[in-house]
Amino acid sequence: MARHAVVIALPPGEAGPVGAQLSGAGYETINVTAPDQLEALLADRRHVSVAVLDGESDLDASLEYYSLLHDEGRSIPALMVVSPRALERLTANPTRTSINDEYFARPYSAESLRWRIEAMLIRSQTVDDGSGSPILEGGPFDSQGWSSRAQMIVVFSPKGGVGKTTIATNLAETLQLRRGQNVLLVDADTVTGHVTTSLGVEHARTVCDSWRDQAEGGPLETIVDLASQHTSGMRVVSLASSPLHTEILEPTRVADAIAAARRGFDFIVVDVHPSYSALNQAIFDRADRILVPVTPDVPALRAAVQLRDVSVELGIRERLAMVVNRANSGVSVADMERTVGMPAMALIRSGGLLFVRAANEGRTVIERFPREKVSEDFDTLAECVLGPTRPEAQAKASLRGLFNRAKEPVRA
Ligand SMILES: Nc1ncnc2c1ncn2[C@@H]1O[C@H](COP(=O)(O)OP(=O)(O)OP(=O)(O)O)[C@@H](O)[C@H]1O
Ligand SMILES: [Mg+2]
Repeated sequence: MARHAVVIALPPGEAGPVGAQLSGAGYETINVTAPDQLEALLADRRHVSVAVLDGESDLDASLEYYSLLHDEGRSIPALMVVSPRALERLTANPTRTSINDEYFARPYSAESLRWRIEAMLIRSQTVDDGSGSPILEGGPFDSQGWSSRAQMIVVFSPKGGVGKTTIATNLAETLQLRRGQNVLLVDADTVTGHVTTSLGVEHARTVCDSWRDQAEGGPLETIVDLASQHTSGMRVVSLASSPLHTEILEPTRVADAIAAARRGFDFIVVDVHPSYSALNQAIFDRADRILVPVTPDVPALRAAVQLRDVSVELGIRERLAMVVNRANSGVSVADMERTVGMPAMALIRSGGLLFVRAANEGRTVIERFPREKVSEDFDTLAECVLGPTRPEAQAKASLRGLFNRAKEPVRA
């Protein structure tokens, strides 16, 4: 199916993060800054699936955009971003827009807007709007593709040894074994990852191996082709087996290859090296959420504060979520939250030597010690991850919001 094209007509400060979020989700994004640009685009017979308009700062321009989306028999859905007060005014006058259109109140996160776009596209493909048969763009509705569109979770801290690999591996395992999710675990730490070996997956072919072979005429292999199956059922793949000679791992290509595996999985969990490398930044760009393990010690707290400070420039602030690791070490979680300036999403207690014992057997703590309290902590973490941002749940929530809109304005 062709990529959906999304027109973005938002103020510059919003167009950037929204565009990045939608591109990361695989959409073609087209920024327009004036109605005649949209007119030219449509005159060129470019297919536009949905347009995001600013319904607040320049209402005249928005109305012009809006007319263009509906001129000449077109019915391109519009998502109008407005203030909460404008939302109330607009929903009180529903005749102005068609059933395909939606409103979205500021302030909002780029991620929540993206889920709304996803829901709108599903709706435009499957819901009978009363004008005849359901609208089907580009063939039958690809429910398989939607339902298996993985959420990409990166586990990152700029500090070494805080539990990134432990959390990535055990979270992935919990989602797969205990929550019935289809999980791909990616070891993107080419220096200190060791995910595959700690899981007992020996001699696995890495992305580096494959791309080198391909450069010499070998076949093109996807990340999924390269992933090995762990005993738990989850798939595991490593970028490299040696920290040296990884030049072939061009950051954008790697991030795109990981993102391309979204179809066919419910979750992709990525373990990365503690650095702000170009590779990590490319992976962050495509991540839905970045879990930041923080242990109760000053260097780890400092690293988390530094990450919080640079996260705005990196465009990842709203996707960060702190996970307190070794949480039962005497330091209060409230103090850690205050110091870091982020709420804790979940706590993982110290598992003592359980992790070492499990790893020595090539297994995870979840598999080997399922009844231990630390395994329950991973259950809680999985529940948080699955919770309100699960794509299907989000889509359903958005659709519910849509149908209740007249009674209850939808808030971003
Ligand atoms: N909650 C925990 N309880 C007990 N041991 C833990 C816990 N979390 C991590 N560890 C141990 O601490 C060590 C470092 O953890 P891990 O390798 O996951 O950190 P990391 O952040 O990935 O490190 P690096 O930056 O070097 O990749 C490991 O030996 C691991 O078993
Ligand atoms: Mg690690």
